[in-house]
Amino acid sequence: MIKVIDFIHTNRDRYVSELKDYLAIPSISALPEHQGDVRRCAEWTAEEMTRVGLENVKLVETPGNPVVYGDWLHAEGAPTILFYGHYDVQPVDPLDLWETPPFEASVRDGEIYARGSADDKGQVFMHFKAIEAHMKQHGKLPVNLRVIIEGEEEVGSKNLDNFIKANKDTLGADVVVISDSAMFDRGVPSICYGLRGLTYFQIDVRGTNSDLHSGIFGGSVANPAMVLAQMLAKMRDTSGRIRVPGFYDDVRELTQAERDEWKKLPWSDKRYMKELGAPKLFGETGFTTLERRWGRPTLEVNGMLSGFTGEGAKTVLPAVAMAKVSMRLVPDQHPDKIADLFEAYVKELAPKTVEVKVTRMHGGKPWMADFDNTYVRAAGRAIEQGFGKTPVFCREGGSIPVVATFQEELGIPSVLFGVGLPDENAHAPNEKLDLDNFHNGIVASAILYEEIGSRR
Ligand code: BES
Ligand code: ZN
Repeated sequence: MIKVIDFIHTNRDRYVSELKDYLAIPSISALPEHQGDVRRCAEWTAEEMTRVGLENVKLVETPGNPVVYGDWLHAEGAPTILFYGHYDVQPVDPLDLWETPPFEASVRDGEIYARGSADDKGQVFMHFKAIEAHMKQHGKLPVNLRVIIEGEEEVGSKNLDNFIKANKDTLGADVVVISDSAMFDRGVPSICYGLRGLTYFQIDVRGTNSDLHSGIFGGSVANPAMVLAQMLAKMRDTSGRIRVPGFYDDVRELTQAERDEWKKLPWSDKRYMKELGAPKLFGETGFTTLERRWGRPTLEVNGMLSGFTGEGAKTVLPAVAMAKVSMRLVPDQHPDKIADLFEAYVKELAPKTVEVKVTRMHGGKPWMADFDNTYVRAAGRAIEQGFGKTPVFCREGGSIPVVATFQEELGIPSVLFGVGLPDENAHAPNEKLDLDNFHNGIVASAILYEEIGSRR
């Protein structure tokens, strides 16, 4: 192991320069005009997987973006890890808020800035380099490894469930390892044992055939922007409770034991508020900030569009209004059931003066693991050696839809060990990854393979 760790330390600069090439590919899965880039990124991923020594590397076509697969299965008698990550990234708008271009990675104060640096190419690349270090030093891995890197995570992993169901036989493994989350805090590495689920909607409201003069027509027909705002205002009350009937029926209440554990984490509301620039925090009454983020569901408006939004004033009565609305779900809420309840509630709220269309976009199940298993303990030891600190256990508010599928379809538990930071700006301008964490993460990943490989 010492040779592997030495190798990683010696190659630090090369890793950063290679990662920059990976980050230069604008693999934005949400935007059709980037489809070519997404494919190019899949190809780059496959080439890199071959370079580091994985075998049987291929692009597996799906109705959407290809899944990149590779494996190394020669550690006889050792367990098999299924490593999952994603090569697609989120859109970069608003572009003018980026200090340096999103696809020209730039290093400042020990952080690498680029779209995908933390979420998730940088963290995927960390594992590629851990594989490479073992292969270069010993010509083999201490564990069997299958790797799948998908290209649709940021748009809901629509085709991945089918890929997994169709390839059940070839995806056999003992544990799934994922690095697509953040550490609890700088200097506080963590293992994540829970994720929220998601269900996502677009609501379109149409009032008339065309925009109208607001003086000539105003007051005689409904205003879609106003109607939509009124509908949205009825979805959540001022104490943060969601008003969709039946929404809370399946919510698993937090246990006192878990709440007590979370209270021990090094957390400050004051600092959080300051870092976010929020004048005051807001959330469901009766819950702490961590409980609100990790253990309670929420409903958010992700975007709205209607009428005149340019500079100056225009007296117009908009013909249409649109909102994107999503809900984060906790165990044991089911995205399809919540989606049905939400649709029914939107229909109930819709006045007869407008036409309302509800479109389901995507969803994913929440996930929560039992964190006292041999793989989690192995990860704990690996992180401890890589970061010089014992990891804390936390849940996360974000979603990785496939984690529940791994559990349900393949019966494989997941270990989530992320090295991003809470201020990594994922999905926002100036996304970044701390290079010390990236580097320690390569060491920890290499040790993790060794640790898991030794449980024969
Ligand atoms: N890496 C994130 C998920 C995440 C973020 C997990 C922070 C834990 C902590 C992932 O790439 C992501 O953003 N997922 C989407 C999924 C959605 C599009 C179905 C999300 O959570 O919005
Ligand atoms: Zn991600």
